[in-house]
Amino acid sequence: MRKLLITALILGGLTILVAGCTNHYGYYRVTDPTTGKAYYTTKVDAGKGGAVKIKDEKTGSTVTLQSSEVKEISKDEYKAGMMAGSVQDITVSAQSFGCILDWPKIRNTRMKNSDPEKLKEAMRIFQDGVPDKEYPVGTMLQLVPFEAMVKHPREKFPKTNGWEFFFLDVSKEGTKIKDRGERVVNLSQGITCLSCHKAAVRFDFVCEKRHICAPIPFDDQKIRELQNADPRCTDVLRS
Ligand code: HEC
Repeated sequence: MRKLLITALILGGLTILVAGCTNHYGYYRVTDPTTGKAYYTTKVDAGKGGAVKIKDEKTGSTVTLQSSEVKEISKDEYKAGMMAGSVQDITVSAQSFGCILDWPKIRNTRMKNSDPEKLKEAMRIFQDGVPDKEYPVGTMLQLVPFEAMVKHPREKFPKTNGWEFFFLDVSKEGTKIKDRGERVVNLSQGITCLSCHKAAVRFDFVCEKRHICAPIPFDDQKIRELQNADPRCTDVLRS
């Protein structure tokens, strides 16, 4: 094998041989052919002799590769590459929700995670009010039947550390998702969920009463009543 290896920049099918020092900006997958390891980066610093210097966006560390294959990729491919190997995301549909009384409760909040181990972990974090701790992906929280928060991997909703807010329409027939995402608005107050919940950033956006979020107009008694009146809970023996 030749000592001096060539860095090929395959840009949309074009192959450019790099000489001198050049910076390239875009979305790139940089593969080390000796180990097969792929790195994802948005800037490639091509130095002399075919070496490249990149910032590995997954770990944040700078990597210099003597030999590499640099491929420009689409933003979607980049995102998918960044997510690969990280925690499995969950898909949330109307069917993910149900009678709020079926979910275990800590103080006022009901929670769910289809993985029993992760549910235990979420309940422990909530119970102890541990700061700087992230809820496991897949955790669903509800205070009242018509609002919910669901945890995804951070990359999916960077502003909320992965939380997706939901505004739900609940009836005897079941759940309808009226609005979802980072920018959901609480219609009765005309402000976003995030505008209050961001105050609890140290508690992974979980407010409770003690994490300094602006208060909601429901006291504990009212919250209990709203939960008990969830029209999706048809079994009268339940409450
Ligand atoms: C006015 C501020 C405010 C707004 C707006 C708001 N919340 Fe909250 N939220 C709170 C407070 C305060 C609590 C804690 C209440 C308690 O535990 O008694 C809370 C609790 C919750 C909880 C239970 C977990 C936790 O963080 O304590 C969920 C889930 C939730 N809110 C979702 C939402 C969603 C979804 C929206 C938007 C549709 C929303 N909230 C809008 C202040 C707000």
